[in-house]
Amino acid sequence: MGPSRHDQLTIGELSARSGLATSALRYYEELGLIHSERTAGGQRRFARQALRRVAFVRAAQRVGLSLEEAGAALAGLPVDRSPTATEWSRVARTWQSRIDEQIADLERLRDHLTGCIGCGCLSLGTCALYNPHDIQGTDGPGARKLLPRHSRTA
Ligand code: FES
Repeated sequence: MGPSRHDQLTIGELSARSGLATSALRYYEELGLIHSERTAGGQRRFARQALRRVAFVRAAQRVGLSLEEAGAALAGLPVDRSPTATEWSRVARTWQSRIDEQIADLERLRDHLTGCIGCGCLSLGTCALYNPHDIQGTDGPGARKLLPRHSRTA
Protein backbone atom coordinates (compact mmCIF):
# COMPACT_ATOMS: atom_id res chain seq x y z
CA MET A 1 0.00 0.00 0.00
CA GLY A 2 1.31 3.49 -0.86
CA PRO A 3 1.53 6.44 1.47
CA SER A 4 -1.67 7.15 3.35
CA ARG A 5 -3.89 10.02 2.30
CA HIS A 6 -2.87 11.78 5.50
CA ASP A 7 0.73 11.99 4.35
CA GLN A 8 -0.33 14.07 1.40
CA LEU A 9 -1.64 17.57 1.09
CA THR A 10 -3.96 19.11 -1.43
CA ILE A 11 -2.86 22.42 -2.87
CA GLY A 12 -5.46 24.13 -0.65
CA GLU A 13 -4.04 22.47 2.45
CA LEU A 14 -0.49 23.36 1.46
CA SER A 15 -1.62 26.92 0.88
CA ALA A 16 -3.34 27.15 4.27
CA ARG A 17 -0.37 25.68 6.10
CA SER A 18 2.36 27.59 4.28
CA GLY A 19 0.54 30.92 4.01
CA LEU A 20 1.27 31.03 0.29
CA ALA A 21 -1.45 31.54 -2.34
CA THR A 22 -2.30 28.52 -4.48
CA SER A 23 -1.23 30.50 -7.56
CA ALA A 24 2.22 30.99 -6.01
CA LEU A 25 2.40 27.28 -5.20
CA ARG A 26 1.57 26.41 -8.79
CA TYR A 27 4.33 28.77 -9.89
CA TYR A 28 6.77 27.16 -7.45
CA GLU A 29 5.86 23.82 -8.95
CA GLU A 30 6.39 25.14 -12.46
CA LEU A 31 9.88 26.21 -11.40
CA GLY A 32 10.56 22.77 -9.93
CA LEU A 33 10.80 24.04 -6.35
CA ILE A 34 8.10 21.67 -5.17
CA HIS A 35 6.63 18.58 -6.76
CA SER A 36 3.22 16.99 -6.74
CA GLU A 37 1.62 13.83 -7.93
CA ARG A 38 -1.77 13.80 -9.60
CA THR A 39 -4.76 11.85 -8.44
CA ALA A 40 -6.80 9.89 -10.97
CA GLY A 41 -9.01 12.98 -11.12
CA GLY A 42 -6.01 15.17 -12.00
CA GLN A 43 -5.74 16.92 -8.64
CA ARG A 44 -2.37 17.76 -7.15
CA ARG A 45 -1.17 15.94 -4.06
CA PHE A 46 1.95 17.18 -2.30
CA ALA A 47 4.10 15.17 0.05
CA ARG A 48 4.30 16.69 3.52
CA GLN A 49 7.94 17.53 2.78
CA ALA A 50 6.70 20.24 0.39
CA LEU A 51 5.90 22.38 3.43
CA ARG A 52 9.53 22.37 4.45
CA ARG A 53 10.61 23.22 0.92
CA VAL A 54 8.20 26.15 0.73
CA ALA A 55 9.47 27.42 4.10
CA PHE A 56 13.04 27.12 2.80
CA VAL A 57 12.22 29.11 -0.35
CA ARG A 58 10.51 31.82 1.70
CA ALA A 59 13.53 32.07 3.99
CA ALA A 60 15.84 32.26 0.97
CA GLN A 61 13.76 35.10 -0.46
CA ARG A 62 14.06 37.01 2.81
CA VAL A 63 17.81 36.75 2.47
CA GLY A 64 17.47 38.28 -0.99
CA LEU A 65 17.80 35.20 -3.18
CA SER A 66 15.77 34.99 -6.36
CA LEU A 67 13.49 32.00 -6.83
CA GLU A 68 16.03 30.56 -9.25
CA GLU A 69 18.80 30.89 -6.68
CA ALA A 70 16.55 29.38 -4.01
CA GLY A 71 15.95 26.47 -6.36
CA ALA A 72 19.67 25.96 -6.86
CA ALA A 73 20.19 25.96 -3.08
CA LEU A 74 17.32 23.50 -2.65
CA ALA A 75 18.84 21.21 -5.24
CA GLY A 76 21.77 20.70 -2.88
CA LEU A 77 19.50 19.52 -0.08
CA PRO A 78 17.78 16.16 0.28
CA VAL A 79 14.23 15.92 -1.01
CA ASP A 80 12.96 13.20 1.29
CA ARG A 81 14.42 14.04 4.69
CA SER A 82 15.48 16.97 6.81
CA PRO A 83 18.93 18.34 6.02
CA THR A 84 21.72 17.37 8.40
CA ALA A 85 23.42 20.09 10.44
CA THR A 86 26.37 20.00 8.02
CA GLU A 87 24.15 20.33 4.97
CA TRP A 88 22.26 23.18 6.55
CA SER A 89 25.33 25.08 7.71
CA ARG A 90 26.77 24.90 4.18
CA VAL A 91 23.67 26.69 2.90
CA ALA A 92 23.63 29.14 5.82
CA ARG A 93 27.22 30.13 5.11
CA THR A 94 26.35 31.19 1.55
CA TRP A 95 23.35 33.11 2.89
CA GLN A 96 25.54 34.89 5.38
CA SER A 97 27.75 36.23 2.61
CA ARG A 98 24.63 37.30 0.72
CA ILE A 99 23.44 39.29 3.75
CA ASP A 100 26.90 40.87 4.07
CA GLU A 101 26.66 41.99 0.42
CA GLN A 102 23.24 43.49 1.05
CA ILE A 103 24.53 45.38 4.07
CA ALA A 104 27.40 46.75 1.98
CA ASP A 105 24.93 47.78 -0.76
CA LEU A 106 22.74 49.56 1.77
CA GLU A 107 25.73 51.32 3.28
CA ARG A 108 26.71 52.58 -0.18
CA LEU A 109 23.14 53.71 -0.74
CA ARG A 110 23.13 55.55 2.59
CA ASP A 111 26.39 57.30 1.66
CA HIS A 112 24.95 58.39 -1.69
CA LEU A 113 21.81 59.62 0.03
CA THR A 114 23.91 61.72 2.37
CA GLY A 115 25.26 63.52 -0.72
CA CYS A 116 21.70 64.16 -1.92
CA ILE A 117 20.49 65.76 1.30
CA GLY A 118 20.11 69.45 0.66
CA CYS A 119 21.13 69.00 -2.99
CA GLY A 120 17.89 68.53 -4.88
CA CYS A 121 19.48 68.33 -8.35
CA LEU A 122 17.80 64.96 -9.00
CA SER A 123 20.08 64.69 -11.99
CA LEU A 124 20.02 61.48 -13.96
CA GLY A 125 23.58 62.14 -14.98
CA THR A 126 25.19 62.89 -11.64
CA CYS A 127 22.92 61.80 -8.81
CA ALA A 128 24.34 58.51 -7.58
CA LEU A 129 21.07 57.57 -5.99
CA TYR A 130 19.29 57.75 -9.32
CA ASN A 131 21.98 56.03 -11.22
CA PRO A 132 23.90 53.83 -8.79
CA HIS A 133 25.49 51.54 -11.37
CA ASP A 134 26.66 54.19 -13.77
CA ILE A 135 27.22 57.57 -12.27
CA GLN A 136 28.46 58.84 -15.64
CA GLY A 137 24.90 58.46 -16.79
CA THR A 138 24.28 56.33 -19.80
CA ASP A 139 20.61 56.71 -20.43
CA GLY A 140 19.86 53.03 -20.82
CA PRO A 141 16.73 51.38 -19.50
CA GLY A 142 18.42 50.45 -16.21
CA ALA A 143 18.81 54.10 -15.31
CA ARG A 144 15.24 54.96 -16.25
CA LYS A 145 13.91 52.10 -14.16
CA LEU A 146 15.16 53.82 -11.03
CA LEU A 147 13.25 57.03 -11.62
CA PRO A 148 10.88 57.68 -8.75
CA ARG A 149 7.34 58.79 -9.39
CA HIS A 150 7.86 62.18 -7.81
CA SER A 151 10.65 62.98 -10.27
CA ARG A 152 10.96 66.66 -11.04
CA THR A 153 11.18 67.75 -14.62
CA ALA A 154 14.25 69.72 -15.65
S1 FES B 1 19.99 64.91 -5.55
FE1 FES B 1 21.79 65.83 -6.23
S2 FES B 1 23.25 64.23 -6.13
FE2 FES B 1 21.37 63.28 -5.56
